[in-house]
Formats: sequence, structure tokens, C-alpha cells
Amino acid sequence: MRASLSLVAVAGIATSAVAQRVLPVSISKPHARGKTAANTFSKRASNFTQVIDNEITAGGYYATVSVGTPAQEVTLILDTGSSDVWILDSEADLCQSERLQAYYGDCLTTYDHTASSTYDVVDPDGFDISYVDGSGSSGDYIADTFRIAGATIKALQMGLAAQSTINSGLIGVGFDTNVAAERVYSNLIDEFMAQDVIATKSYSLYLNDLESSTGTILFGGIDTKKFIGDLKVIKIQPETYGGQQIYSSFSVTLTNLNITDGDNSKSYITQDIDVVLDSGTTLTYLPTTVAERIFAAFNAYDDSQGTGLVYINCDYLTNKPDMTFDFRFGASGPLVRVPIDEMILDNVKAYVELGLQLPDLDFDNVCSLGLQALDDYYLLGDTFLRSAYVVYDISSLSIGMAQANLNSTESNIVEIGTSGIPSATGVDSQTSTSDSPSGTDGTSTGNPTVTVTTDPSDTGSAGVRTIPPPSWEAASVTLMMAFFCLAGATLFTW
Ligand SMILES: *[C@@H]1O[C@H](CO)[C@@H](O)[C@H](O)[C@H]1NC(C)=O
Ligand SMILES: *[C@@H]1O[C@H](CO)[C@@H](O)[C@H](O)[C@H]1NC(C)=O
Ligand SMILES: *[C@@H]1O[C@H](CO)[C@@H](O)[C@H](O)[C@H]1NC(C)=O
Repeated sequence: MRASLSLVAVAGIATSAVAQRVLPVSISKPHARGKTAANTFSKRASNFTQVIDNEITAGGYYATVSVGTPAQEVTLILDTGSSDVWILDSEADLCQSERLQAYYGDCLTTYDHTASSTYDVVDPDGFDISYVDGSGSSGDYIADTFRIAGATIKALQMGLAAQSTINSGLIGVGFDTNVAAERVYSNLIDEFMAQDVIATKSYSLYLNDLESSTGTILFGGIDTKKFIGDLKVIKIQPETYGGQQIYSSFSVTLTNLNITDGDNSKSYITQDIDVVLDSGTTLTYLPTTVAERIFAAFNAYDDSQGTGLVYINCDYLTNKPDMTFDFRFGASGPLVRVPIDEMILDNVKAYVELGLQLPDLDFDNVCSLGLQALDDYYLLGDTFLRSAYVVYDISSLSIGMAQANLNSTESNIVEIGTSGIPSATGVDSQTSTSDSPSGTDGTSTGNPTVTVTTDPSDTGSAGVRTIPPPSWEAASVTLMMAFFCLAGATLFTW
């Protein structure tokens, strides 16, 4: 049944006669590469971790853009947790060294600055980024023409990685206060606004169903067909550094987490937790006290210090198909219900085939849990975000959130104006559809769209992924806190 559609376009939006300044971009999940690599973290016992380490850059979602004149196409990871666009130089150490590629994976797409007539060096050796898992890249800051969907940004400042332990560049769409440069510069989202592609520094992210290989990032707008019920707006929380409040990440306050099965609902948090919405992180990380309560409820086995996974009985998927993990942000704020099949991942059997040695477990049908324990730093990653429709508005320092309407192939795009995220109502209920999902649906508005290919290393099996994107965190989370210190001054997430 197709839900009836009650669409509310709202005050604060330019009249429909005015062309909307929005830019939809399709994003896609990479496919498991299933190839072995030397062990990055040699202390680890199982060869399984080699495979996962090799997947460090395979988490997350990719978009294809082009850089330079003439245009060179590159495929980059989309990341709400960092703020620089950076690309791999074709001469980067990683791309030139088989030994390094054995550790970090083959370079995906690269950029040859010598072939671009619009290339310019902005800050030699000024680019140096590190992520919380200890990976990073460095080189010059350059400027060149950057094209995404139908938009062209002239002289965009970007990192050009000459050294890298990541085999793909990134599109960081976070706050400019979080750029890796010594001095804040105008980053992609700033330039989108400055060059009048969009009216405010904002975008909506629709990752879609775990089974779907594509989602959409819509710069400057919201799509009311992609969510259910009211879009609710909450404030981004600042961080405090040396007594100063700074906005540098998409941090919001989680006030409730209930696990609900029919009439039975149980709360798992006792106090508010500030969590960062981070599309570059595959799993969800909550405080140990909260996570352990959930592990106990499911008789899950926390082997995050060993193989990197939390094991859970897959039977919950068949015995409790209606169970949901309900995340609430404020008493009257957004509620996102994550269905059990987005939180319990049936990926372990494939890992066992790749050589994973399971610990002793008192169940045979083994799955992994998309939620793990971490202290000091809490992230809602893709296992949460796939069930949510999230609007990130840097200009108004707010987040809009609603339950995602999965597999939606329809589109009704509303521009985000200078008065902030519009109050809007989506569809009435989950549109059940057997249509193959499509992320590229901006055509109804006449706005520029782009058809984005999957990861270039993918050899044409689009949409038939059976293994959810393995979590690089699963392998590296135990090392995360150690690297945290080593990585030094700047703290980035992805
Ligand atoms: C969450 O669980 C508690 C019991 O632990 C219950 O009292 C409360 O009503 C639940 N909240 C929701 C929104 O279901
Ligand atoms: C992992 O090791 C086992 C033997 O311990 C071997 O059979 C398997 O092929 C290895 N897997 C990989 C991916 O290297
Ligand atoms: C979305 O589509 C996929 C197949 O492409 C299907 O497996 C999944 O169940 C669908 N989700 C919903 C909520 O209808």
C-alpha cells in the first residue's frame, strides 16, 4: 500500500516561482573487496582482522565528483564528521608503493595535478589530517575547480595527499571550525553558500535501507517524501575548549534509548548523553554502562577487544522481527526507531568464511551487534543513521530529524531558507514498495542531479550486496583510544 501523501510546504520558503537553490547528490555504499592484506595491527591474532583493516576505507558512503581542468573524475567518501575535501595525488606514497597498498588497500581514484590547467598551490605542506582511528593523510593545500552534481565551485581549497594511510579521498561536510588547516578557511559547504549554489550551509542525508546500495545527500534542501511524520528540529550542542564554546561537530543530546517489543518497552539510559551524528562511522558507540546493559539483555558477547565484534544470536531477527531500538532527542523532540534488522547484522557467517575464528559462544547462529561500548566519545554512525532522515544546518546550528521513509523513489524538494530548517511533514507511514530503490530523484524539480557510480573497485555487482559494510571500527576501536593520544592536537572523526 502506498501511503497517502500530505505534504506541507511551509513559511520561510521562497515562493515556488523562484528557482530553488538545492543540489541533490546520490551516494553509494562500497562493496566488500574480500581481498587480503598484510596485518596493519600486527598484535592481533586472527587473520580476520587483516580483512577488516583492509576495509578501513570501505565503510561509509561514496559520491563521485570531478576535479580540475579538464575534469578528472574522483570517488570520495562522504563524511559529516570532518570538514576538508581532500584527494589522493596520483604520485602519493600509498599509490606508488605495493608494500603500502598491501597494508592500506589499493588507491581508489586519484588526481594528477600536472594534468590540470586550473591547479594552484595554496599552502605547501599545510594539509595534515588525522582521524580517531589513527589513519590520516598529508600534503599541500591546493585550489582547483570542483564539480559535484550540476554545481561547479571554482578554486575550492582542498587537501592534496602526498602521504596517506587511507586509500580514498574524502568530502568532509562539517563545520569549517574543524578543518585540518592551521587557519580556518572557506570549505566546501561555505563555498556552496558563498557561490550561491544553496541559500544556507545545510544539507539533508538519506542513507536508506541497509539492503539498498544508494542514498542521497541533498545540499540546501529537504525532501518531504523521504521521511515519515513531522521533521523535528533540535539544537546542535557546542563543545567547550578552554572556557570557550565552539561549534565544530554535529553533537546532539540523546535523552532516551528504549528497546521496544510490542507493548513491552524498556529504557537503557538513565541520563542525557551528547552524541555525534557521524556518517563516516559504520557502527554506533555508546557509553560502556549503557552498552553493557544492552549486551546483557540480549546475552550478547562483547569481543570488541579481541576480534573487534560484539556477537549476538541471529535468532532475535526471526523471533523478534518487530523489535526496535528507539532513540529520542528531547521530550517532544525527534524519535527514531531503528528496526532490529538494522541493528543486528547478519555478517558474521561471511567473515567466518574469510577465516574469522569465533570465540566460544553459547549460540550457533551468530550475528554481530551494530552498537558497541566506548567511553568519552559517543557516536551515532550508520547503524543508527540509516533509519533516520537528518537535516544538518550549520547556519542555524540545528539538526532536523525524522524517521526515514525507506526505499522511497518519490521526491518533493523544499529549499532550506535563511530562517532555518522549515517545519515540514513527510509521508504518513512507511511507503511499502518493491520498486528498486533509487537515490537520484531530483529530476522532478528540474534541479541538477548526478548519477553516481558505485565504488570503482566494485566490479559491477551493484545492489546485490549481502554483507553489510564491515566496520573498520570493529577492528580498530580497541586501538582507538591509544591512537587518540598519539594523533595529537587535532581530533577528527569520520
Ligand atoms: C521506555 O521504557 C520505560 C521503562 O523502562 C517506560 O516507562 C517508558 O514508557 C518507555 N518509553 C517509551 C517512549 O516507550
Ligand atoms: C585464515 O587462516 C586460516 C587458517 O588458520 C586459513 O584457512 C584461511 O584461509 C585464512 N584466511 C585468510 C583470509 O587469509
Ligand atoms: C527496501 O528494499 C530492499 C530491497 O531492495 C528490501 O530488502 C527492504 O526490505 C526494503 N525495505 C523496506 C522498509 O521496505
